[in-house]
Formats: sequence, structure tokens, C-alpha cells
Amino acid sequence: MSIRQRIAERLAPYDRVVVWGAGGMGTNALRRWLPLHKVAAVVDSNPAKVGLLIDGIAVRPPAAVQELRAGCIVICTHAHARVRDAVKQSGLDVPVFYIYELFVPEAGWETMSPLEQLQVDIAATKNAMWPLFVLQKPQIAVNVTFRAAQWARSSSWGIVLYPLLYVMHYLTCIVFSIQLPLDAKIGPGLIFAHFGTIVFTGRARIGCFFTIYHGCTVGTDSDGAGPVIEDFVTQFAGSHILGNCRIGNNVRVGANAVVLGLTVPDGASAVGVPAKVAA
Ligand SMILES: CC(C)(COP(=O)(O)OP(=O)(O)OC[C@H]1O[C@@H](n2cnc3c(N)ncnc32)[C@H](O)[C@@H]1OP(=O)(O)O)[C@@H](O)C(=O)NCCC(=O)NCCS
Repeated sequence: MSIRQRIAERLAPYDRVVVWGAGGMGTNALRRWLPLHKVAAVVDSNPAKVGLLIDGIAVRPPAAVQELRAGCIVICTHAHARVRDAVKQSGLDVPVFYIYELFVPEAGWETMSPLEQLQVDIAATKNAMWPLFVLQKPQIAVNVTFRAAQWARSSSWGIVLYPLLYVMHYLTCIVFSIQLPLDAKIGPGLIFAHFGTIVFTGRARIGCFFTIYHGCTVGTDSDGAGPVIEDFVTQFAGSHILGNCRIGNNVRVGANAVVLGLTVPDGASAVGVPAKVAA
């Protein structure tokens, strides 16, 4: 199933979809993924965008949301947590989705095949036309070999390709200096923002839309325990998440942080050595 089809399926119960965010993410979502015939309006808090037309759909101010009779709201901005709070505070009682949540079936990402997960990795990473994308983000090759080898291992006829894909994966990892064992469990939307000196333990459990920068470790402690990392987590440059940690949804791990056996609540940042939850 393509991403467009999955989003259409997730939005099937709703008639009037209001898109929140008229920037690059919103425009991209309208052009590539959303069922346009269901989109009632786009809203944006930037006065410079209000009144513009995106593919014939008018951009309205947030105050207009009440009168738009939205069946659901799809947030298309990185400040999705803030928008969600604003919608809640406005008293509007409609389902709210961050656009990337819709890339994943309601039953959870574990129900997706590795090749469907790869589609989401590419959609989440790709920010330019294919030739430019491949030049600027060549590390996508690691996602390709990782998901392809996992697919081959789980497929009755693909298994014949597994030895080849296994070797290709570990060779690709050498090229990009990314150690990613094939038994690592990582949800769709895995983004290597950069590459070089990135290490994963196979004992980590990582949710969807995990972004990792260069010089990072997701590793074990001396007891051999690996971390649990929820959805939409960003691990910034030079940071390490080690051992029995639980990193909540939408967490940011600051540059050079060393997170050791820490529980980080949803939406927080972890910074410093050893890392603490930022105030
Ligand atoms: C963690 C980060 C994402 C900011 O998170 P935030 O929740 O907005 O945090 P704030 O900027 O509000 O800072 C909160 C506190 O944490 C401290 N802090 C922030 N980042 C820190 C870091 N990397 N290391 C140590 N302390 C840090 C701030 O000084 C501040 O301390 P204070 O409360 O004593 O003044 C950001 O600082 C960071 O590390 N970005 C990494 C960028 C990066 O790696 N880019 C790579 C580009 S290639």
C-alpha cells in the first residue's frame, strides 16, 4: 500500500479535513499525500500566509478553525505539539493528527512490512528531486539495505536473496560508518540526518520517525541492557543513549549528551553529561 493510499484510508471516516500549516510541510502534504477533495481549508498563524491560495485552497487564520466545521485536523508543522495544545485549549473536540502519524496504520507500525517501512524512511528523508536527494543524502543506502535484508529474511521466496543483501548491508554500513545490526528493531521514518560514527545496539527498541545525527550511539550499558526509544525522537550530534533508558515521544537529546539509565518524559529535552531532563 502506498503512503497516499494509507493516508486516504486513515482519513476515510472524516469529511472535512483542515490542514494546519501552510509552509513547506503543508504544501508538500497537499501536493503529494493528502486527498485534496476532502481538504476544507488550510490554516496558518503567520499573517503573511493568510489569504494565499495553495493549489486553489485558501489559507485562513487559526481563529477561523471553529467555523470551518472540521472533521479532523492534520498538523503539517514541526511545532506539532504546540498546535495540538492550542487546539485543545480552544475547546475544539475533533481528532488531531500530525501528518507523519498518518503514514503508519492505526494498528501500529509493527504491522508494516520492511519494504513499506522503507517507503516511509524515504518519504521522511527526501527533501529534493531524486538525483539531488541521492547526492545530498547518500546515506539513504543504509536504510535501503537494512529494510531489504530484513524483508528478505522474513519472505519465503526473498530468503534466497538474503545472503547477498546481508553482505551488501554490512558493506554499505562500512562506507557510511554506520553500525546498524540487522536485528535492530526500528520503526519506519528512520532518518540519518548525517552519517559517520553512528552505532546501534541490536538490543534497542526504537519507535517511528527516529532522527539521528552524526557521532551518536544507541548502546548497551555494562549489564547489556539497551534503551527503549518512543516515536518522533531526535538524537542530536555527538550524543549517546546507553543502557536501560526510556526516551518518551517527541524527546530531543541535546548535542553531546550522555543519557545513562534515564527516563525522559514525552516532549522533554535531555542535555549534559550525565544527561538530565532540561528545565
Ligand atoms: C537540546 C536542544 C535541542 C535544545 O533543547 P531545548 O529544549 O530547546 O533547550 P533550551 O535551549 O531551552 O535549553 C534548556 C537548558 O539546557 C541547556 N542546553 C541546551 N542544549 C544543551 C546541550 N547540548 N548541552 C548542554 N546543555 C544544553 C541550556 O543551556 C539551558 O540551560 P539553562 O536552563 O541552565 O539555561 C539543543 O540545545 C541542542 O543540543 N541542539 C543540537 C543541535 C545539533 O546537534 N545540531 C547538529 C547540526 S549538524
